[in-house]
Amino acid sequence: EIVDLDAREILDSRGRPTLRVTATAGKHRAWAAVPSGASTGRNEAHELRDDDPERYGGAGVRRAVGSVAGELRDLALSRPWPTLADLDEAMIDLDASVGRYRLGANAILGVSTAVSRLFAQRDDRPLWAALRLPGRAARLPVPHFNVLNGGAHAQTTLDFQEFMVAPLGAPSTVEAVRAGAEVYRCLRALLAAAGHSVGLGDEGGFAPQLTQPEEALKLLVQAIGNAGYPLGDNGIAIALDPAASQFRSEDGSYRVGGERLSSSELVERYGEIVGSFPVWSIEDGMAEDDDAGWRELTDRLGDRVQLVGDDNFVTNAKLIRRAAARGIANAALIKPNQVGTVTETLAAVQACREHGYTWMISHRSGETTDDFIADLAVGTGAGQIKAGAPARGERVAKYNRLMDIETDNPGLPYGAQHAPLSDTAR
Ligand code: PGA
Ligand code: ZN
Repeated sequence: EIVDLDAREILDSRGRPTLRVTATAGKHRAWAAVPSGASTGRNEAHELRDDDPERYGGAGVRRAVGSVAGELRDLALSRPWPTLADLDEAMIDLDASVGRYRLGANAILGVSTAVSRLFAQRDDRPLWAALRLPGRAARLPVPHFNVLNGGAHAQTTLDFQEFMVAPLGAPSTVEAVRAGAEVYRCLRALLAAAGHSVGLGDEGGFAPQLTQPEEALKLLVQAIGNAGYPLGDNGIAIALDPAASQFRSEDGSYRVGGERLSSSELVERYGEIVGSFPVWSIEDGMAEDDDAGWRELTDRLGDRVQLVGDDNFVTNAKLIRRAAARGIANAALIKPNQVGTVTETLAAVQACREHGYTWMISHRSGETTDDFIADLAVGTGAGQIKAGAPARGERVAKYNRLMDIETDNPGLPYGAQHAPLSDTAR
């Protein structure tokens, strides 16, 4: 009953090409656009790009557009699909290559997300309701606003990639968004007064020339205070994504603020940070292939802090299960384009549920105005989402959608589901 499927090349927030897919069934039509990361895990599904140096420095996606308009369209129109999972499985079979090198994971994800919207429309349900999991209540997630950008998302000497503020204690999404925007405003004023640049990184956060993560954390604490919010569980907490794969050297050491740290020393540094600042969550604290470091970090802080696997888990149910069996991390980041279809994304969430891991829904540093992940967060009852700063169209699209869902559905609860912060952090 899908009667048409098409794609076009559009631009993402970094000015690089990506796909927008449109799917049609009867009087229903839905679109979806595909995001793109910069600090990617090694096992992510493959983005198909043209490698034609004459166009966009090789980053064009006309071949992926061709996959959608050709083989994927033929498949989608060939028969009726009772559920999205049936179509997703058929697409995976069609591109039997590991990592989806032939048709492109970007092409397949575009179809999967567009069709999930189309089917929700057809069934006359809001998208978030169509994405619900059996036995899991929907809830509005705590937004994690990435207000200071470093690492691969900024051209500075700050090695940690993301410094986020999370209004854990807000009464609602609308108030959480307000809190994030007010802190962002206060942070801007603080930076300007100190003579720092107020230019932005890839995810809309400020990108001042700082070196030590603790300098950034002090600024955040000050900005939260200046905005008039309490720190910690009952107010605004801080979440980090150091993205440690990016600052690990060949010799296995980590370079932080000009210092060389062993895995154990880095774990020690996190311990000090958690003792001094209201940090409730650390993502990719260790590099993706540093299993021993990850275990040490989990043993040391896992009962007090949410430890999120991103580069090492790549939204893959199998990798999450394997890590759980080995005592690595206690949470997973969920990014649909890391694994490639909506169905596989939901399977990764199910793996988290089975192992008592929490999960945070995430955007990518290269984004579009597509707000799919807002509905994904609500539908899966994640309790947490990160979508960048409370600024720039491609970031606020997600937060604005969350406010809409809340306003239109007064019964939905807001908030994270997590263990309380450590006493020092409170
Ligand atoms: P990316 O970074 O979208 O640039 O890969 C996001 C993250 O590391 O969480
Ligand atoms: Zn990350």
